[in-house]
Amino acid sequence: MEIYLDNSATTRVRNEIINDIVMVITENYGNPSSLHHKGFKAEKILNYSREMIARLLKCSPEEIYFTSGGTESNNLAIRGYLKANRRKGNHIITTAIEHPSVSNTFLDLKKDGYNVDILPVNPMGYVNIDDIKRIITEETALISIMMVNNEIGTIEPIKEISAIAKEKGVALHVDAVQGFGKLDFDVKEYGIDMLSLSGHKIYGLKGSGALYVGRDIKIAPILTGGGQERDIRSGTENMPGIIALGKAAELLFGKIDENARFMYELKKKLVDELKELDGWSINGPGLNEAAPHILNISFSGIRGEVLVHSLEEYGIYVSTGSACSSKHHSESPVLKALGLKPNAIQGAIRISFSIFNTEEEVVKAAEAIKKIVPELRKYTRR
Ligand SMILES: Cc1ncc(COP(=O)(O)O)c(C=O)c1O
Repeated sequence: MEIYLDNSATTRVRNEIINDIVMVITENYGNPSSLHHKGFKAEKILNYSREMIARLLKCSPEEIYFTSGGTESNNLAIRGYLKANRRKGNHIITTAIEHPSVSNTFLDLKKDGYNVDILPVNPMGYVNIDDIKRIITEETALISIMMVNNEIGTIEPIKEISAIAKEKGVALHVDAVQGFGKLDFDVKEYGIDMLSLSGHKIYGLKGSGALYVGRDIKIAPILTGGGQERDIRSGTENMPGIIALGKAAELLFGKIDENARFMYELKKKLVDELKELDGWSINGPGLNEAAPHILNISFSGIRGEVLVHSLEEYGIYVSTGSACSSKHHSESPVLKALGLKPNAIQGAIRISFSIFNTEEEVVKAAEAIKKIVPELRKYTRR
């Protein structure tokens, strides 16, 4: 039996979507740019998916551009905005806990001469609004901040940040890859100018995603080519990914709060079950304040990656930090930014839930952890 608890890395595609994916590769396989009937049908699929995403974000379909995923959406928003608004200034702001697709983009822009400010976070992972007020200047062009942190689940105060940005005429980009479909929000009410999302985190396909760009925001393309997506994102559209994204968004509509409660209950159950075990603590904002699907725990006296592999022997899949940093065997910059001690960083694992998980799975995972952790501790203390 497999118990998949690494849903922040990626999710399984929903069964309800599979027939639609097959349909666009076998029957309606046209190119939306073609003039004939097959092209027209493909264009209808594009329009449908755009509408479904817009409905979840509460924006207009014209404000949605399809991309190859969260990484490209983040690059397009940040680089594309700066390229189209060169006169706005040379100062850009982000945080110390962004996904590499934002943090490495900022590092790259720094090499190009941008003045980059990286905001620290408190031990719960929150940025300090006063820090933003203090460093924002006439020269600030853009703030990029994530909605939900992918390792610890901190939900950043986007509304407050957007109020400051608006007051100063600074654009706000939000990486909502871990927030879209998990939290119910209104992109307009939040005052977000650009927002990135990804298909494979919401039961769609890998290599699919979208960028919301508010009507009054100008961005320039970062890829040159045939001018698809109203000249913003060239390249023949990834139709299987796009139909899956649209269907996944449709299936989440009206269900976000219910799903959030469901995942929160699973997370709470896991935490309750682990209470018999000693020497562990939750990293980040804790059980109630974090996003419902993410739980990051440090176990004393063990290494996270050893626990990950031991759990794997029981068919249980979790991760250390993010999927990107796990493979590179580097210390998580996110946990470092929280000010955690090296032992706590090394002993951390991330458990992330989906709507497919069950209470039975969670109990089994907790039992395995309670069995493995004391054994590993004996070994490391020897
Ligand atoms: C917060 C965040 N941003 C961006 C990404 C990148 O998304 P994609 O895998 O679609 O490129 C991820 C994926 O892990 C993420 O968690």
